Amino acid sequence: MSLLQGTRITWLGHATVLVQTAKGTNILIDPFIAQNPKYPKDFVLPEKIHYILLTHGHGDHISDVVPVAARHGSTVVAIYELAAYVAGKGVANTIGMNLGGTVQLDDVAATMVEAKHSSAAEDETGTHYVGVAAGYVLSVADGPVLYHAGDTAVFGDMKLIAELYRPEVAMLPIGGHFTMGPKEAALAARYLEPKIILPIHYGTIPELKGTPEELAAVVDAKVQVVRWAPGESI
Ligand code: NI
Ligand code: MN
Repeated sequence: MSLLQGTRITWLGHATVLVQTAKGTNILIDPFIAQNPKYPKDFVLPEKIHYILLTHGHGDHISDVVPVAARHGSTVVAIYELAAYVAGKGVANTIGMNLGGTVQLDDVAATMVEAKHSSAAEDETGTHYVGVAAGYVLSVADGPVLYHAGDTAVFGDMKLIAELYRPEVAMLPIGGHFTMGPKEAALAARYLEPKIILPIHYGTIPELKGTPEELAAVVDAKVQVVRWAPGESI
């Protein structure tokens, strides 16, 4: 896809996405692998994953962060409290940041943006405060601007994300129940003005009923809704 200018995006089911830039930076967002019913079981992750980005502390977004970071030598980027939490679980290298901030990850400028969702991490000792839920804008040098919304409802300040960063590709949850569904994602697209929507966070479990077809039926005609299966790339 020409607007991606060599950046490859692979969906690994649910909200798990692998971004690989033309210059060779590998970024994995929200690693949910062992317990992910839609993870493409034959998929081989790149040997080196330079960065893992976490949107929030729910298990379906962080459950494999510790083993993946160890095996693939990754630095984990998350909101400050969640970064501290995963460091306490054994992640060696973390970058804690917060909403509105940008960190330079080799050729990718990663900006943490707002999401409307809850965020807590659960383990055998109970439920832990790990900051608020977030999304990321990834501005690839000499490449595209990508937005991964994390888990979120639609919100009016998506217009600020569009005004500030002009994302061309928006990874939006569409399953409903725990996030926005297709109707709300269509309004999100009107605010964000992406060229392409990559639907995520749908079809994983029966509650997540929203489909790309429903989104395509209600979204503005100029926006392309990609229908992809886990393990496929654009
Ligand atoms: Ni969540
Ligand atoms: Mn989720």
